[in-house]
Amino acid sequence: MGKSKIFVTHVYLSKFLKKLEDKYQVDVWPDKDISRKDLLVGVKGAVGIIALLTEKIDAELMDAAGPQLKVVSNYAVGFDNVDLEAATQRGICVTNTPGVLTESVAEQVISFTLVLFKRVMEGDRFVRSGKYKGWEPDLLLGTGIKDKTMGIVGLGRIGRWTARMATALGMKVIYFNRHRDEEFEEEYGVAYHVLDQLLEKSDAVSLSIPLTEETKHLIGERELKLMKPTAILINTARGSIVDQKALVRALREKWIAGAGLDVFEDEGKVPEELRTLSNTVLTPHTASATFEARVAMARIVVENMMDAIEGRRPSCLVNFGVWKDNID
Ligand code: GLV
Ligand code: GLV
Repeated sequence: MGKSKIFVTHVYLSKFLKKLEDKYQVDVWPDKDISRKDLLVGVKGAVGIIALLTEKIDAELMDAAGPQLKVVSNYAVGFDNVDLEAATQRGICVTNTPGVLTESVAEQVISFTLVLFKRVMEGDRFVRSGKYKGWEPDLLLGTGIKDKTMGIVGLGRIGRWTARMATALGMKVIYFNRHRDEEFEEEYGVAYHVLDQLLEKSDAVSLSIPLTEETKHLIGERELKLMKPTAILINTARGSIVDQKALVRALREKWIAGAGLDVFEDEGKVPEELRTLSNTVLTPHTASATFEARVAMARIVVENMMDAIEGRRPSCLVNFGVWKDNID
């Protein structure tokens, strides 16, 4: 009997697959971008797929792989690219990579806060463009960070680490989450607020929630108008949590002071209107892009893959229902 096949959708991951290659036939897409068509062909006959957040793993793709497909190991903490219901119905485990990119993403949130309040990017552009002619007392005045309020939407791992770092900067931290965490509130001196109140009170609002049906466009015109005109919005989660068109208006018409964005509604197609605004700092979905995080993510996708194929419950399973069904 031949070895079972595992399909890996991106060449970058090839250097982390030794453990899998010892036991399985590992087919790695030899390039950076895989087209939908190549993806549908590539997964055929695979028991496992290692996928990126940019790939849509839906019912059509699962069926193209075939009934032997046991696991989709997503190389990301977010898994909005995977149709969980379709996977569960087909008995396919879906796994993610939580825990190892927490600090990296939270560090990006803090970077955006510092860079926007201190106007670092504007200062950099000012000097590079040759405009700097000498010290002036009122040149590019920013906003002090100490005693300002950081409002965190979503108190998961990333939200918590952000809260701890913001506290260390002397910020006051408030949060909104589906569930209150009184222990965390007490330990770190953070306070719970409902979303509208959080938006009204915060000087920086950071989003650390997954994208779901409920969170799509959670931040739209109404919410942006609740924010202070001096406040900034930070999104390192998923672009579609924010209504991007409304955000562009908010920034242009100064309903808010600025935005730090690592994610966009249509990834890879950042609108000109956003790119030309001086009160934004934009990064190409690199909040989790540290050497440390990327290596650890690779280790986890491999572990999840092996566990699922070999009949152990993967530690980062996200569609729990599939395992109950396995046991029954
Ligand atoms: C990055 O956005 C991730 O979900 O890992
Ligand atoms: C992701 O790791 C989160 O729980 O925020």
